[in-house]
Amino acid sequence: MRSRSLNCNLISTPANVQTVNDATPHTIGKTNSSRRRLPGLAVRDGLVRHPFDLEFGVRTSGLVAGRYLVSGQRNDRHATAYYAVAPSVFRSILVRWRRCRPQAPLDAFTFVDLGAGMGRAMLLAAEFPFRAVIGVELHPFLARIARKNLALWRAAKRARAPMRLVCGDATEFPLPVGPCVVFLFNPFGAPVLRRLLRSWSQTLTGWEGKMDILYVNNEQERVFEAQPGFTRLFQGPIRRSHADAVADRRILTSQPEGEYAATPWEDCSVYRWVGTAKAGEPRPRQTDPNCGGTRKRR
Ligand SMILES: C[S@@+](CC[C@H](N)C(=O)[O-])C[C@H]1O[C@@H](n2cnc3c(N)ncnc32)[C@H](O)[C@@H]1O
Repeated sequence: MRSRSLNCNLISTPANVQTVNDATPHTIGKTNSSRRRLPGLAVRDGLVRHPFDLEFGVRTSGLVAGRYLVSGQRNDRHATAYYAVAPSVFRSILVRWRRCRPQAPLDAFTFVDLGAGMGRAMLLAAEFPFRAVIGVELHPFLARIARKNLALWRAAKRARAPMRLVCGDATEFPLPVGPCVVFLFNPFGAPVLRRLLRSWSQTLTGWEGKMDILYVNNEQERVFEAQPGFTRLFQGPIRRSHADAVADRRILTSQPEGEYAATPWEDCSVYRWVGTAKAGEPRPRQTDPNCGGTRKRR
């Protein structure tokens, strides 16, 4: 998705990592507005259901502009919008990532969606045998819908990984212990992403190679480029399937305010935490040829 402007205190050493487990509260910070209706989620707001929802009986469709995503938390103003990732784009970036030789088997990785919305990316991720799939969503109304979707997914026996949704701010979320792949579908603006990367880079010592980031609609790419310690493994456009392109175009052209635009692709990147280079050592190479390299948009 193209947009007008749409666009973990985490890991240190294994000894002092804060683990996310079933005892961790599934809510971070304040949770008001969980029942307030959000503009963009009703037929009268132009809602068109995506074929993914029609096929699986879940609720992930809708477009909520960032200005309506008010949860009462300090990072509200940096939220881009709610919109769910195109399934074809999600599956393609996962394939790209797996070509980048993740440094552990898939079932050792926890998949974390920061800005999980109604959970579509989590549902898609749970079709793979990850160690766990965790979503973090700031807005309580969306988080509540996501939890219902997760329950439907489990009941339909589509989940091959345990799933959990945490309602709260991504910048306050403690990354789980062990290899981790973080998914970002352009959830927030540069100030929040910058804070997140700085916080990670202060605590990720010892986790080199074990934390990868999949960034879809990589509008704030320059924030990664400015933050030492992350190397880019892939950058390029990922095309939607024809079915997703048709669905997204229908959805985006039915917005009453028409502020977001659809493109046939999403600009994406894959990053890996490699640690900050010691003085005198060359910086790690940018873009790994095994992952498909940097490609021009077609
Ligand atoms: C573009 S949607 C992505 C939804 C989901 N990842 C998917 O692909 O289907 C971005 C989501 O990020 C959430 N968000 C924005 N800022 C956040 C923050 N600081 N912490 C957690 N979630 C946030 C928004 O509420 C919105 O639901």
